Amino acid sequence: MKNNKKHFLIWALLCLTMLISSIGILPSTTTQAAAKTDAQLTAIKKRGYMVLGVSADYPPYEFHKTINGEDKVVGFDIDLARQVAKDIGVELRIKELGFNSLMGSLKTGKVDMIVSAMTPTPERRKEVAFSDSYLTVAQKVIVRKGEENKYRSVMDFKGQSVGVQKQTTQETTAKEEMSGAKVVSLEKVTDLILNLQQKKLSAVVVEAPVADAYVQTNKALALANIKFTNANYDCAIALPKGSPAYLASVNKTIKKVKSNGQFKEWRKTANEQMFTEQNFWQAYGSYFVKGTGITIVLTIIGVLFGSLLGTLLALMKRAHSKIIKAIATVYIQYFRGTPLLVQVFMIYFGTQVIGINVSAFVSAAIALSLNSGAYVSEVIRSGIQSVAKGQTEAARSLGLSSKKAMRLVVLPQAIKTILPALGNEFISLLKESAIVSVIGVGELMFQTTVVQGSSFKPFLPLVITSLIYFVLTLILSLLLRYFEKKMKVGKAKNEVFD
Ligand code: ARG
Repeated sequence: MKNNKKHFLIWALLCLTMLISSIGILPSTTTQAAAKTDAQLTAIKKRGYMVLGVSADYPPYEFHKTINGEDKVVGFDIDLARQVAKDIGVELRIKELGFNSLMGSLKTGKVDMIVSAMTPTPERRKEVAFSDSYLTVAQKVIVRKGEENKYRSVMDFKGQSVGVQKQTTQETTAKEEMSGAKVVSLEKVTDLILNLQQKKLSAVVVEAPVADAYVQTNKALALANIKFTNANYDCAIALPKGSPAYLASVNKTIKKVKSNGQFKEWRKTANEQMFTEQNFWQAYGSYFVKGTGITIVLTIIGVLFGSLLGTLLALMKRAHSKIIKAIATVYIQYFRGTPLLVQVFMIYFGTQVIGINVSAFVSAAIALSLNSGAYVSEVIRSGIQSVAKGQTEAARSLGLSSKKAMRLVVLPQAIKTILPALGNEFISLLKESAIVSVIGVGELMFQTTVVQGSSFKPFLPLVITSLIYFVLTLILSLLLRYFEKKMKVGKAKNEVFD
């Protein structure tokens, strides 16, 4: 009896709720009401801005464009992201990364969402959450003009090199379906196109809108008529897991812009932006200037802090304490024994893992300084060692303290060996700074790939960049030679004086 009463009550309540919501008094269902709050969304709103992670090498989805002399990331993905932010009520900030660094950035909280033509694959769904699909596209194969008839099915690529972007769905498709083909994975779509033109690749697999964009803007390329079994991929927005309200808000925006025609409008604009002719220098000159500036600043920071750290390490290695010595040895061994690329990623993502939010630029500056410190310390150490032992002994026997012997006798002679080697270290630091482009620092190499992508010219930007690096290292060498000479003159004077 009691049970019956309870059942009746529940039924009555349910009917009432349905009745009320159907006449619009209770617009949101209980699940939506619960989803109004979630930690991620609250954090974004409190911050006042959200960070978009994007790999802007994918016209017309996302690419660079100079608008009124200013470099902008444009494309329909960007418009969509902007609308998402607007609907949440915050500002959008854009963070550029390589496509294969996007997932890591979202998972470590460096970015709040990814809009980068990303396909929600089962593997990715294990790591992050995905919105509803905003676009479904086919896969196409780009080949060199004149060769389009050579390839009629996936089987025709046997023994050929086929290029794909690293860690994309195209990589999986090419490996699974183009049996016998050698699949080559590269970081940037622009690199793929360059390799195709240089005959290092026979074909490139990308999403249809991107393939169409490249073929329409590059007369040396054509589309092969290839059908894949796994032909259509969705594109969706990736978000952190466990944020139902945030996800609901993103889905609402997607639904809205698809039904009111806005998304179509953005696609049209992106296509138009892609094809407006521009004078190369007018459009891209500023990218090289900006990139060169950042490269120089990074190198100066690396040289400065690297030298300080290197001196400290060299001193530590000469210390009496075994522990201090061991710390210096392990440090040097570690930073010389692991690739700079790994170190850059370790600092960029590692700081986030331990709860400090360090910008890409600062991460890059730290990585370069730490790395250069290890090399500089070895340069100093070997310089000191190059001075014959007899020199110290003679100085000591003349009554100089060991500190004085070092300062007055050993170091002035060691400088002669140290300086040229130090010069080499600075030159390689300048060149190696190109590596930090992987975390999206806008230095010279980064800007080069940007220009390659938006100008559809894969080779020319590389030539320009190589010339800029050449001139920079030349200036640095001349500067160093000047200082070396000056030191020698100083020394000669001393000798006369002595
Ligand atoms: N849809 C493919 C994927 O999710 C490729 C996306 C590449 N996007 C880019 N911005 N480069 O794997």
